[in-house]
Amino acid sequence: MVQIAPSILSADFANLAADINQCRDADMLHVDVMDGRFVPNITIGPVVVKDVKKVSPLPLDVHLMIVEPERMIEPFVEAGADLITVHVEACPHLQRTLTLIKQAGVKAGVAVNPATPLSFLPYVLDLTDLVLLMTVNPGFGGQSFIPAMLPKIREARAILDQADHHPILQVDGGINVKTARLVYEAGAQMLVAGSAVFGTGDIPGAIQALRQSVVSA
Ligand code: DX5
Ligand code: ZN
Repeated sequence: MVQIAPSILSADFANLAADINQCRDADMLHVDVMDGRFVPNITIGPVVVKDVKKVSPLPLDVHLMIVEPERMIEPFVEAGADLITVHVEACPHLQRTLTLIKQAGVKAGVAVNPATPLSFLPYVLDLTDLVLLMTVNPGFGGQSFIPAMLPKIREARAILDQADHHPILQVDGGINVKTARLVYEAGAQMLVAGSAVFGTGDIPGAIQALRQSVVSA
């Protein structure tokens, strides 16, 4: 079954608890952390994650779009992250960073920008609980899905199918009821969606619509 992770980047930050409360039927909450260096935007840090944790029973999936992410593992784990995803492009020593995440007691994910090849993936698979394929260039919500990512999702699926521990294949960026079906057919298991969930006026309905969109796929 497909899993849905609403990205709170598109939520109303002045009414965050209310928006998060509407996400009860989701599988995880996706938290986009941006530093204005790795990506051209600045969002939130551990302070907000700590308060989100207080109001949501959902596991927190923290997507670090920051340089030197190893410096921020501990603060985000202390704040309540359940899974920490780092970008391969930000980690010259990826094995070391993934090991630090696991040693901190949470699950480890690795994110890949659209133009970054997957050739590194087999070498870190044993340390990886989740692979996040970006289907837009990270930095902002509301961008359009890049169709050239469909063959890349199939390529990642084939690599992940080799692993006995079943790492999850997550996609992020431009996911809506149309693209959800395409990425699911290509092998994605967890869909991150921001504007398609929070931009609708009916958050539970939007989550349900995303689930439904893949049912006959
Ligand atoms: C983009 C973020 C995404 C973003 C997705 O840099 O990583 O999680 O919130 O937003 P939508 O679903 O609107 O493309
Ligand atoms: Zn994200």
